[in-house]
Amino acid sequence: MNTTITLNDNFLEVQGKRFHYIWLRQNCLCPDCRHPTSFQGLFDISDLSSPPEPLSVEEKNGEIEIIWKEEPPHKSIFPVSWLLNHAYDPSPQQPEEQKILWDRAWLDAHPPKKYDIHSCPEDVWMSQLFTLGFTVLKNINPDNLDDFISSIGPIHATEYGRFGELKAMPNSTDIGQSLTGHALALHTDRCHVHEPRLVQVLYCVDNNASGGESLLVDGFRIATDFHQNHQDYFQILAKTPLQFQDFDPMRGYFFSRKTPILELDWEGKVAGIYFSRKTCNWNIPFDELEAFYEAYSAFCRYLKDPIYEYRFRLEPGDCLLAQNFRIIHGRTAYDPLSGHRHLRWATIAWDYINARQNFEMLKHLYLMEN
Ligand SMILES: [Fe+2]
Repeated sequence: MNTTITLNDNFLEVQGKRFHYIWLRQNCLCPDCRHPTSFQGLFDISDLSSPPEPLSVEEKNGEIEIIWKEEPPHKSIFPVSWLLNHAYDPSPQQPEEQKILWDRAWLDAHPPKKYDIHSCPEDVWMSQLFTLGFTVLKNINPDNLDDFISSIGPIHATEYGRFGELKAMPNSTDIGQSLTGHALALHTDRCHVHEPRLVQVLYCVDNNASGGESLLVDGFRIATDFHQNHQDYFQILAKTPLQFQDFDPMRGYFFSRKTPILELDWEGKVAGIYFSRKTCNWNIPFDELEAFYEAYSAFCRYLKDPIYEYRFRLEPGDCLLAQNFRIIHGRTAYDPLSGHRHLRWATIAWDYINARQNFEMLKHLYLMEN
């Protein structure tokens, strides 16, 4: 099939998509311009003394061959399918993000399952991690936990090591491990550390104490509703940096990090939520303090509203994976005298999970010539 190509002064048009000559020259796929096995760029467009100009453009067998007016002339070959997949007219093609911003009513209508690790295909439970921001697996043997997590992505070690233990212990340095079985108010983990965006992995070793139910809310859903109803408050939470701190005398660390509660991306959309009362140091400037507390309290009331809450019980062998930058989590109080509650946790950088999915979706664009 012939491809329609139209030449213009500074761009050509392929099947209705425009490509500047300068973009085509920059993206030349030949082995001198792009390393053939790493797919990394080698060509420096600023080496050209004048804007790139084609001497000839020819289409054959689904490829477009361009000879550039250079000394000596340079040849670029672009498969048409590659060009269309990389079109930036009107905007660069990005993999679709499939998010469902959920609340309790949505979950009541679509109750989440616990997926059996032995029978559920990975793409099924993984897809829920992308859409809802969390997923729960069941029947994982503790001896297989490390291999299971490592199959998703490398474990991100913290000051606790590759794994941390969450159970009642004397002289704990975290409320979650206190002997009193405190409720844990909704929070995101590790706001006090400069780290990549993480997926939190919470594995249930034992849970036969009374109480201790897990609580999740969709921070992105709440932020969306909050933005709709309280734009001024939203801006305050997005623009006021807070100091999160954690003093750890056992290991000799005093972590400190400044970030607003709502982190926005370059388009102004919420990209991350940092919310933890237990590690927040309230260092708001004097003149901003009252307005901040008003916004903060309003946001807290959204978090606590039961219309957003998902409440469930982790059973031994269950494993919760949750995007720590989206899902805000907590637990109800439990009675440590009534039985044991022991969770093991680890973290994985979200980049690895996202990158694996992108690889599966986009590898054909890179490996097509092999
Ligand atoms: Fe936590």
